[in-house]
Amino acid sequence: MNQDKKIIFSGIQPSGNLTLGNYLGAIINWLPLQDEYNCIYSIVDLHALTVRQVPAELRKRTRSLLALYIACGLDPEKCILFVQSHNSAHAELAWILNCFTYMGELNRMTQFKEKAQRHSDNINAGLFTYPVLMAADILLYQTDLVPVGDDQRQHLEITRDIAQRFNNIYGDVFKIPEAYISKVGARIMSLQQPEKKMSKSDENPNAYINLLDPPDVIIRKFKRAVTDSEAVIRYDVDKKPGISNLMNIYSSITGKSFEDIEKEFEGKGYGDFKLAVAEVVAETLKPIQDKHKELMANKDYLDEIMKEGAQRAERLSYKTLRKVYRKVGLVPKVF
Ligand code: TRP
Repeated sequence: MNQDKKIIFSGIQPSGNLTLGNYLGAIINWLPLQDEYNCIYSIVDLHALTVRQVPAELRKRTRSLLALYIACGLDPEKCILFVQSHNSAHAELAWILNCFTYMGELNRMTQFKEKAQRHSDNINAGLFTYPVLMAADILLYQTDLVPVGDDQRQHLEITRDIAQRFNNIYGDVFKIPEAYISKVGARIMSLQQPEKKMSKSDENPNAYINLLDPPDVIIRKFKRAVTDSEAVIRYDVDKKPGISNLMNIYSSITGKSFEDIEKEFEGKGYGDFKLAVAEVVAETLKPIQDKHKELMANKDYLDEIMKEGAQRAERLSYKTLRKVYRKVGLVPKVF
C-alpha cells in the first residue's frame, strides 16, 4: 500500500450473479480508481447470510464473483480483492460497533424496512444490524472514500455517525469516510419495470441482464424489455423510462450522446433499437465471459488470489481492531 494514496473500500454481496447494472453502474467506475487510490474490494459473503442461502450455491457464487471482479478488469496486483469472511476482524469489529449503535437509528434504515417486508418470514437480527457490519467493513481500513450508489447513502451516513460517536468517546480511532461520487456512472434500471433499479435479486430474470447470460438470452431479454407505445427513440425519463434506460445502456457502452442515438435511430422502430442495444451488450460481455470461464477453470489461481487478498486485508485491519479492543477496555491477548 502506498501511504500517500487515499483508501477506497467497496463491496458486493455474492447473493446473485452480477448484472449489467452492477457493471455499468459500479465496477466500470472502479477500474480507473485502481491507479489513483489504494483500492480494497470485498465480496461481502457475511452480508449475504442475512437472507437464507443455499450453502453450495453461496460458495460457488463467491468464487464466481471473485473471478468476475478480475474478468471485468480489477487487477489483483493493484488492489486488494478478498472475501469478507476470510478476515474475522469484520465480524469482531461489528460486535463492538453494535454496542455503539442505537436501535432507533437502525429502525430508520429504509433498506431494512423494505427487506423486512420482502422477507417477512425471516426478519432476523442480522438483517437489522446489517449496516453495522457494513460500518465495520469500512472503518477497519481507515477508509477515506466509499463509492456507493444512492441506495447505500443512508448506510454510509450511519457509518459516519457510529465512527464519530466512537471517536468522541475514545479519541481519533476511526477515519470518517466520505462517499465517492464518480463523474460518470449510469443508473441502470429494470428491463421490466424501468422505474426500479436493475437488481440481481429480482424474482423475474427478464428484468436484468446477468453478466454471464449468453448472447441469445441477452437478445431475448432486450426484445422483451418494457417500452411505451410512442414508437420514437427519444430520451425522456419521466414519459419514456424504458426507452431512456435502453438509451442509457447504449450510451454507457458506446460513448454516444443521447442526441447521437436519437439521430442514429430516427425513423427506426423499437425492434431495431432493442436489437442494436442487445448486440453491443453481448459484444461487451463476451471477453468478460471468456475470461471468467478461464479463471473458473483455474482453481489454484483463484485460491491464491483469495489467500493473498485475505492476508493483506488482515494485516491492514489488525491495527484498527487492536486499538479498538484496547480503547474499550478489553485485556490484550498474550501471545
Ligand atoms: N451493502 C452494500 C450493498 O448491498 C454492500 C456492502 C457491504 C458495502 N459492505 C460494504 C458497500 C462496504 C460499500 C462498503 O450494496
